[in-house]
Amino acid sequence: MLAVKTSRLSKVFGDVVAVDGLSLEVKQGEVFGLLGPNGAGKSTTIKMLTGLLSPTSGTIEVLGRHPTDQELLTSVGYVPQDLVFYGHLSAKENLELFANCMEVENAKERVTELLRLFELYEAKDRRAAVLSGGQKRRLNVAIAFLLTPQLLILDEPSAGMDPQSRNMLWEILEGMREESNITVILTTHLIETADRLCNRVAIVDHGKVIAIGTPSELKGKGKDGEILEIVLNNSPPDLMGKLNDYDVEITEHMIRFRNLDTFSELPKIVEKLNGLIPKESIRSFNIRQKTLEDVFIAHTGRSLRE
Ligand SMILES: Nc1ncnc2c1ncn2[C@@H]1O[C@H](COP(=O)(O)OP(=O)(O)O)[C@@H](O)[C@H]1O
Ligand SMILES: [Mg+2]
Repeated sequence: MLAVKTSRLSKVFGDVVAVDGLSLEVKQGEVFGLLGPNGAGKSTTIKMLTGLLSPTSGTIEVLGRHPTDQELLTSVGYVPQDLVFYGHLSAKENLELFANCMEVENAKERVTELLRLFELYEAKDRRAAVLSGGQKRRLNVAIAFLLTPQLLILDEPSAGMDPQSRNMLWEILEGMREESNITVILTTHLIETADRLCNRVAIVDHGKVIAIGTPSELKGKGKDGEILEIVLNNSPPDLMGKLNDYDVEITEHMIRFRNLDTFSELPKIVEKLNGLIPKESIRSFNIRQKTLEDVFIAHTGRSLRE
């Protein structure tokens, strides 16, 4: 059984097509990421998976069931993008309240355990409203961990977290997966989150999947997966027709070779550039691995952050 299967899923709000024919299959035990810029339709997709929104068209199965099936209430954990807790209650009281609603066994112990795990113990008696940004995000996530879900859905879990909180969350998630083969679906607009955490990533834009695969598949697995960036002190000379053998992008102060197998291709490139660009005008010469950002740019012509 798949953890999630969607088929030609769409959601239209008036004249906005938020999700546009999304077909996805998420296997059990995977950490699956939806990576895309703001407005790509990630939260709308998640809200349909959790039964909060009904699709305009298409079908969804979550753990083999319809998203609104009551059985899913205890097997799916959901952390919404917006913070959901009571500001006038303390961190501890919030967890206790939600534990009661969810009929968590050994609630008292579980709450203490989560306060410690999410490093909220020191702050447990402080009103949630006055916690720091990172603490608020952690409390929001901790609530979803009251039960050990089969499927955990996290909408932008790392947004607004400082790097330390972020690392801690990743460690908690990795630990849980080792213990319980939990499936995780998360959305993010952050390259690093998708790359570091996900077994598979679907890059989405305008409600559509534009690329899908493991991070290393998407980046080209080392072979043809490198980028050479030559930064210049001044605008490059007219190189029209001179670098046709390569996938090259030329901007105001940069010549970027994409999809290179640098080790075998570099000598020829250097030889070629020798006659074209004076050595003094080269400010830096940098070879790096392709990132998921490069994959996004290659498909859309835009950067993720724009
Ligand atoms: N309830 C709504 N009514 C109208 N438009 C909406 C609604 N929810 C989302 N949208 C629009 O749908 C698009 C996708 O939004 P969203 O799913 O929140 O994107 P993301 O989570 O990827 O940033 C955006 O253009 C957004 O403005
Ligand atoms: Mg969103």
